[in-house]
Amino acid sequence: MSEQEPKPAAGQERRGFLDLSSRLTMLLGLAGAYGGFAAIAARFLYPAKPRDTRWTFVAEIDRFKAGDSVIFQGPSGETINIARQRESGEVDDFIALSSTCPHLGCQVFWEGDKSRFFCPCHNGIFDASGKGVGGPPGDSGQSLPRYQLKLEGALLFIELPAGDAMARGKGRVIDRVEGIHAAGHDPCLAKAPNPVRDGERA
Ligand code: FES
Repeated sequence: MSEQEPKPAAGQERRGFLDLSSRLTMLLGLAGAYGGFAAIAARFLYPAKPRDTRWTFVAEIDRFKAGDSVIFQGPSGETINIARQRESGEVDDFIALSSTCPHLGCQVFWEGDKSRFFCPCHNGIFDASGKGVGGPPGDSGQSLPRYQLKLEGALLFIELPAGDAMARGKGRVIDRVEGIHAAGHDPCLAKAPNPVRDGERA
């Protein structure tokens, strides 16, 4: 009669299984950590290619006094408030911010006497740098996207995506923005029932 191998006790089997699964979990965790590290390193070594941009002429700076602003329409139709906030003769006198409110897309405009940008739809207020400080944009920490500017002598230029500028031509200074989200128009109120318009009141 041959000698039989002693069978491991049930407790030993369970310990072995737990040991194996904890090693597997540790290995998977290490693989994940090294994978994440490799992805970060690759991003550092091969950073995303910056978008090509192009400088587009806006206006002669004599056109602005401190407190003045113009609306510039880029080649792809985006509208930008360019405000002059000082008169030192440096490019930092000017700021260019998207005129489209990040809340619901109404048109924001510069109030030179209050040194702020204002959205009339829901009383959105942005400080002189475009940071939301009042109304819905202030509550949710939204800001107006900023564009870079440069001066060449007395000429002011704005930096725009090159594809748009080359494919669609130059931008231009416009008097005001037309359309459904123009200043004073509230897209929320437009959808709300209006008793007079809807004939519910005599
Ligand atoms: S759309 Fe500008 S505050 Fe609402």
